[in-house]
Amino acid sequence: MAIERTFSMIKPDATKRNLTGAITKILEDAGLRVVASKRVWMSKREAEGFYAVHKDRAFFGELVETMTSGPTIVQVLEGENAILKNREVMGATNPANADEGTIRKTHALSIGENSVHGSDAPETAAQEIKYWFSDTEIVG
Ligand code: CMP
Repeated sequence: MAIERTFSMIKPDATKRNLTGAITKILEDAGLRVVASKRVWMSKREAEGFYAVHKDRAFFGELVETMTSGPTIVQVLEGENAILKNREVMGATNPANADEGTIRKTHALSIGENSVHGSDAPETAAQEIKYWFSDTEIVG
């Protein structure tokens, strides 16, 4: 299996509840390594740019508002099959549909305040990593 990198965020609803360490531990216990990490309070422009793919969705305004409401931890995770593994560990987008033991089942409040984000494919992982990190900030 290939060693991959994926992009992850611990969202404001989770940082506000002091869950950065708890969520990172779940990721590490699943075999993912944090090879880059920083805490950002994203601007409206950064949130709109990051989530541009959703700009025509009814929830876009609420999404941008939520993501700019507090600090976010942006991370690069590395490991075998990291993209799929991170998606499995996160659980379904809506915590009501998430499996037991997943981050969202354990910690998320709602679909809008769902505690974490993770890239869904190799192309988006590359784009999302590049959106937040320069090559020299990623130390494997
Ligand atoms: P995320 O994986 O970060 O990708 C887009 C986000 O939009 C998603 O998690 C949710 O937090 C948020 N969102 C809010 N409402 C909805 C909705 N109805 N359907 C999908 N995503 C939503």
